[in-house]
Amino acid sequence: KYYKGYIRPFVRIGPHGYLWPAGYGDHAADIYNLDVRPDDIWVTSYSRSGTTWLQELVWLVQNNLDFDTASAIPVSTRYAFIEYPTLASEVRKSTPNSNIKGQRATEDDYTTLPNLPSPRYVKSHSPLSLLPPNLLDTAKVFHIARDPRDVVVSYHFMHIMFRYFDRSVQFKEFWELFQKNLILHAPLEEQVREAWEQRDHPNMMFLLYEEMKKDLPAVIDRVCTFLGKEYTKEQKDKLNDYLQFDNMKNKSPFVSSEDEKKDSELKFMRKGKSGGWVQYFDDQMKKEAEEYMKKYLMCTKL
Ligand code: A3P
Repeated sequence: KYYKGYIRPFVRIGPHGYLWPAGYGDHAADIYNLDVRPDDIWVTSYSRSGTTWLQELVWLVQNNLDFDTASAIPVSTRYAFIEYPTLASEVRKSTPNSNIKGQRATEDDYTTLPNLPSPRYVKSHSPLSLLPPNLLDTAKVFHIARDPRDVVVSYHFMHIMFRYFDRSVQFKEFWELFQKNLILHAPLEEQVREAWEQRDHPNMMFLLYEEMKKDLPAVIDRVCTFLGKEYTKEQKDKLNDYLQFDNMKNKSPFVSSEDEKKDSELKFMRKGKSGGWVQYFDDQMKKEAEEYMKKYLMCTKL
């Protein structure tokens, strides 16, 4: 079926046939062969898993809780989003009259990464198998995963917000495509498994969105330990406050005010909740979701 506006053509790439815009094929070798530096920090994830939230947490811990800079410079500028060019041209194509302000998701990407001064902060939605093979042995790597049912709901809205999909594509249809691995970056469970399998590597910190929601102070402590940083209780409380959704939602790297006026769900920082998927699934989809979750848990062993 033809989805007006969706990224195409696609390429299936890597060991699990990850679905990327065909343009990724032209850049895959450049990304795989990037030089990694020991003081790099990489934040990896499947889209909509809480990447931006974790990026902010990691950057602040590493930068002596410099809230002024974090407030003044968007997180999307402080991190290079390495595979962005493979997506961006497609975003531009699918949004010729876009009024999404600040649509550019990054200043830097794999083309400029080699010229950036250290320490470099890198965001990637690529699975580990598509990233430099010496990444984990060289730099600190974070991976955040989230309940796939919340991811898929959030991802549907993002597809509409970025005009990958026409507004008329209902969530039910999106969910069907997701189950068939026909959604950008699929299959989610393989990407998560790749990272989860490395969870005991001394340079890997694997986190769940749900644990950040449940006990952010505990996650802050773990990130501090992982990065070898110490802060007072007051400082960590301030960080905890800064990272609350109500504060961060005003610092979105994307502003889609025109879309938002039509539909309040069309925001990069949309709801910031766990378990919200329930209200978007009908009974049939809930049964399918149960089956998908069995597959997800079997694959990831999470
Ligand atoms: P929702 O659409 O469910 O609200 P990513 O950065 O990987 O694209 O993930 C985006 C998701 O993380 C969105 O989910 C967004 O609202 C949520 N998010 C971002 N900052 C957050 C925060 N401080 N607290 C909770 N959720 C946050």
